[in-house]
Amino acid sequence: MAQALPQGVRHIPDFLNRAAQEALLEDIRAVVQAAPLYVPTMPRTGKPMSVRMTNCGTLGWVTDKERGYRYQPVHPVTGEPWPPIPEPLLALWQQIARYEAPPEACLVNFYEAGAKMGLHQDRDEQDFDAPVLSVSLGDTCLFRVGEKTREGGTVSFKLSSGDLVVLGGEGRLAFHGVDRIYPATSTLLKNGGRINLTLRRVTLTCLPRKIS
Ligand code: SIN
Ligand code: FE2
Repeated sequence: MAQALPQGVRHIPDFLNRAAQEALLEDIRAVVQAAPLYVPTMPRTGKPMSVRMTNCGTLGWVTDKERGYRYQPVHPVTGEPWPPIPEPLLALWQQIARYEAPPEACLVNFYEAGAKMGLHQDRDEQDFDAPVLSVSLGDTCLFRVGEKTREGGTVSFKLSSGDLVVLGGEGRLAFHGVDRIYPATSTLLKNGGRINLTLRRVTLTCLPRKIS
């Protein structure tokens, strides 16, 4: 039997059908044309990550040796503003995240056969009330998710093309990562690989009103 997922972590398999995946892939191709994938580097060590990245939205998540993890409104290589988040992703946020404010950032991760992502928390946002919504396209991966501390146990399961993951509520700060990609498990991407799209709210939606 499949192991239970930590509280607040949802896996929605096969949410997008093939036609929806193809349409979304076209949108992401246009995003990558405007904002090319680049090789992010780890804070302090400057070690290159195996995943290539870009973003769409008003803010994009970036990392480099000098300035570490952060959000910024422009691409770190081109200096251009990120392209807008494609409409189908905004609709998906409305349908699944059901959060009052729209997502500001959509991180685009591209994994080649040997790429992986270490266990981490998404905690560079100011708003932890909004869930994190992620979409998988292309080759299947082995995803791992745990608790709010690194010491907590983890569960692993496969994410296939068209699957969604939601980290919300109790699960918003759950540690998660990608242990491996299973090459040639999808025909969506001509040259193989996996794309993950992560939608996030970054800034606080409403500030307390001043009482005069
Ligand atoms: C991430 O945590 O940024 C990516 C997760 C994934 O690739 O599924
Ligand atoms: Fe993450």
